[in-house]
Amino acid sequence: MNFEAELQERVSGIEAILRQYLPAEEGYQKTVLEAMNYSVLAGGKRLRPMLMQEVFRLFGGKGRLVEPFMAAIEMIHTYSLVHDDLPCMDNDEYRRGRKTTHAVYGEGMAVLAGDALLNYAFETACKAFNMPEAGQSIDGLNRCAKAMSILAGKAGIYGMIGGQTADTEAEELPEEQVTQELLLFIHENKTAALIQSSMMIGAVLAGAADGQLEALERIGSNIGLAFQIQDDILDLTSSLEVLGKQTGSDLKNHKVTYVSLNGMEKSAEQVRRLSEEAIAGLACVAAQEGMPQADTRRNDFLEKLVEDLITRKK
Ligand code: IPE
Ligand code: IPE
Ligand code: MG
Ligand code: MG
Ligand code: MG
Repeated sequence: MNFEAELQERVSGIEAILRQYLPAEEGYQKTVLEAMNYSVLAGGKRLRPMLMQEVFRLFGGKGRLVEPFMAAIEMIHTYSLVHDDLPCMDNDEYRRGRKTTHAVYGEGMAVLAGDALLNYAFETACKAFNMPEAGQSIDGLNRCAKAMSILAGKAGIYGMIGGQTADTEAEELPEEQVTQELLLFIHENKTAALIQSSMMIGAVLAGAADGQLEALERIGSNIGLAFQIQDDILDLTSSLEVLGKQTGSDLKNHKVTYVSLNGMEKSAEQVRRLSEEAIAGLACVAAQEGMPQADTRRNDFLEKLVEDLITRKK
């Protein structure tokens, strides 16, 4: 099977898992449930659950323990987008090829749908504790607990929310105060944190060692930085039709980006450099103690996926 077909198959599998965990649209809270499902089922690349599943496989993970966490990370990511698009944030009208959640359901309902997705993400991840794969051993329960802790931390004030905070404040700063260092903090947190979370959770659930988790945190950081730089490039070079969201959002909001600081050519070069470093890391991160290097586990699809992100158009 070629990469494109494999990718499509993975996306379909992830969407089936998501549907299984999304709430039924019923009861007096029906509207918020509809708004949640509207935003999650709009499509999207499903990169975070995909990275989680592929890292889980890379470390020899079997069974379905990873599935509630895959649904949870996509819910958290989607909530971050729903809130990011609000008029008080980036004020964007299109997302994933359709009108943004607040444009369809109103601002109040979009705030609530975001809150609801964040909370429901944790309700969903907690379901892992009741799965046979977790319940059969203290080790299984410990893995779930560690995964929960990563999920919570990387989404919070020392992760995604921290990055969004600095990103929001940076809009108001004089340009010379938005330094490379501040921009790195923003990208590392608003974007890389959820990518690190995805990869580390996949590894933890498959039983990876602490040293391997640290390595994955660095690899996730590289992928996340490359991903956000490419997002900033596409905001300047793509179109609503291809991207599914309006371009020019960063200029409109006076964002200092990697591209505005370093230029297009250097930015594209940086995406390549960071991604290649990540791929090199992935090729050896699953080495097992006492095993010859040649026997290191690899995941060809995962390495190709990261390579593909360098030239992504959406
Ligand atoms: C958009 O994320 C927000 C960024 C971190 C740049 P994605 O580009 O992964 O959005 P979807 O999930 O495919 O819609
Ligand atoms: C947002 O970055 C990252 C989030 C945590 C939502 P952007 O504001 O650049 O993301 P897009 O371009 O709206 O998807
Ligand atoms: Mg934003
Ligand atoms: Mg935005
Ligand atoms: Mg953007």
